[in-house]
Amino acid sequence: MNTVIPIKYEWDVVNIRSKVREMAKEMGFSELDQSRIVQSVSELARNVVHHAEEGVVRVESIEGDKPGIRIVVQDFGPGIEDLDEVIRASESLVSTEGYGLRQVRDLMDDFAIRALEGKGTCVQVTKWLNAPAVKSEE
Ligand SMILES: Nc1ncnc2c1ncn2[C@@H]1O[C@H](COP(=O)(O)OP(=O)(O)O)[C@@H](O)[C@H]1O
Ligand SMILES: [Mg+2]
Repeated sequence: MNTVIPIKYEWDVVNIRSKVREMAKEMGFSELDQSRIVQSVSELARNVVHHAEEGVVRVESIEGDKPGIRIVVQDFGPGIEDLDEVIRASESLVSTEGYGLRQVRDLMDDFAIRALEGKGTCVQVTKWLNAPAVKSEE
């Protein structure tokens, strides 16, 4: 399964949310994971609407022995000039800047971001279906 949905208006985010939830549910993700995935795609799609005008989201189901869902959000906006700074800020516990991206990184299993100045931004996230539960600190 592989779906591509354009993102331009806030309204598209609503459509993307329900489509992604449907796919995640069909793939067997728990309700909690469905929410994590939907929250992440929502944040990334909103970033496109707010910071880049338009783009696309590609949702892909990964099959085989390590099944999962991969979401790639790509836009053709300005890119992120100070990406290192945004990432650093998002890692700081006191900073609220970059909180959206930070949340996405925490909610998903894999997170990668690339920004080309003047050419756009691409964020790829993955959630594995059978990822081991996060261990609490011992
Ligand atoms: N798709 C994008 N295109 C351009 N800049 C972006 C994009 N996504 C994020 N950014 C930049 O990275 C910053 C951090 O994003 P985020 O953590 O989602 O926080 P917020 O959206 O609340 O500002 C944004 O303020 C913006 O400057
Ligand atoms: Mg944001």
